[in-house]
Amino acid sequence: MKRTKIIALLNADAPTDAVLIMGWVRTRRDAKGFSFIELNDGSCLGNIQIIVNESLPDYEKIKKANTGAALSVTGELIASQGAGQTWEIRATEVKVISLAPDDYPLQKKRHSDEFLRTIAHLRPRTNKYGAMFRIRSELSYAVHKFFKDKGFYHIHSPIITGSDCEGAGEMFQLDFFGDKANLTVSGQLSAEMFALALGDVYTFGPTFRAENSNTARHAAEFWMIEPEMAFCDISGNMDIGEELVKYLIDYALTNCKQDIELFAKFVDKELMNRLEIIRTSSFERLPYKDAIPILLASGKKFDYPIAFGKDLQSEHERYLTEEHFKKPVILYNYPKTIKPFYMRLNDDNETVAAMDILVPGIGEIVGGSQREERLEVLQARMKQMGMAEESYWWYLDSRRFGTVPHSGFGMGFERVLMLITGASNIRDVIPFPRTPGHIEF
Ligand code: 4AD
Repeated sequence: MKRTKIIALLNADAPTDAVLIMGWVRTRRDAKGFSFIELNDGSCLGNIQIIVNESLPDYEKIKKANTGAALSVTGELIASQGAGQTWEIRATEVKVISLAPDDYPLQKKRHSDEFLRTIAHLRPRTNKYGAMFRIRSELSYAVHKFFKDKGFYHIHSPIITGSDCEGAGEMFQLDFFGDKANLTVSGQLSAEMFALALGDVYTFGPTFRAENSNTARHAAEFWMIEPEMAFCDISGNMDIGEELVKYLIDYALTNCKQDIELFAKFVDKELMNRLEIIRTSSFERLPYKDAIPILLASGKKFDYPIAFGKDLQSEHERYLTEEHFKKPVILYNYPKTIKPFYMRLNDDNETVAAMDILVPGIGEIVGGSQREERLEVLQARMKQMGMAEESYWWYLDSRRFGTVPHSGFGMGFERVLMLITGASNIRDVIPFPRTPGHIEF
């Protein structure tokens, strides 16, 4: 008999004579003549209840199947007599695949996120983390669907690279190639080359930052979604960014309903409200020069004082989006002194066509720009920043031959998951987090 997943049984519309399921015991409770088992196979949040009659062979062994044990169950899918569930299984055969001794760390009780991080290899077996990683999987698919439906091509940009995209000197060094090599901080430079060939492209893969910032929103290894569009200016770039944020929220609310509800109920009571605001609002588009006076007039005592020419810290971003505008904000036209070499210089000679999307609860979720497509301007900028042209000869080539206006951005996939689940720590949205000092698993 073919194995059925529990998600299919819970959504069944008719009883079935014989089904085979396999999964892990969440709880077992014994009554006179019966044992009741809640079985979960990871396919969805819900468990199915199995009724085991004491007349079944191996009943004594089945009674040793405590939380965490693995079972194979054959039985009849019947309408449940009990409250709280539509279907249950009357077992005709139960095979114990393996037992879990009493020191199984996930006994039925609430565990703290901090504790669960110390057993990151087991935490996907809990309701909360099972839900988290199903949502992560669904949203990964949604990213590809969004771009596919718009005619973008997916580019596999290299993970090992010789160039630095962001120029902030925060790269993991590799010693192998007899030449300078690093783990990539961004697939952007590769994506630009392909946008200038295939039109609309995106990369979606792991990126690495060797920054020693131990915050709840930074990881040393994280996944970034990076679209790059030829013949697109900064305002078209903002449009795609805003649309993608809303699309991913909609997708999750439609396709991960039950799992999201768990977060709304147990993790963040404001979650649904916040997602609704983001989904339905038109994002505020605000030049950097107008943001600074708002921050200065806020009357807030920030840890990092803000002034013209300074980069915004998370506290400033969150003030703008959470308190002042109470909706997402797209900040654009930053001073060139605080942004990387590749951003397009504006006519004022002082600012570049950068744009960051800030959302309530997170702060920055997207960072991007229109790119400098003019060869001479780009060369001058690189020179000012002390960058060696030789290492970027191929990048500069793209500005020599058929250069066109183009734009793109990077969206942190973990930040998206934090936004959509209300999780407050990036360590809890990635299977095995890598942060300074943490490399276990
Ligand atoms: O603003 P960033 O550094 O932009 C770039 O790397 C550009 N090259 C992207 C592009 O234009 N193609 O990073 C983009 C986003 C941030 O907005 C944030 O969401 C996420 O990546 N991010 C991080 N997420 C987790 N941990 C970190 N250490 C992150 N650093 C950036």
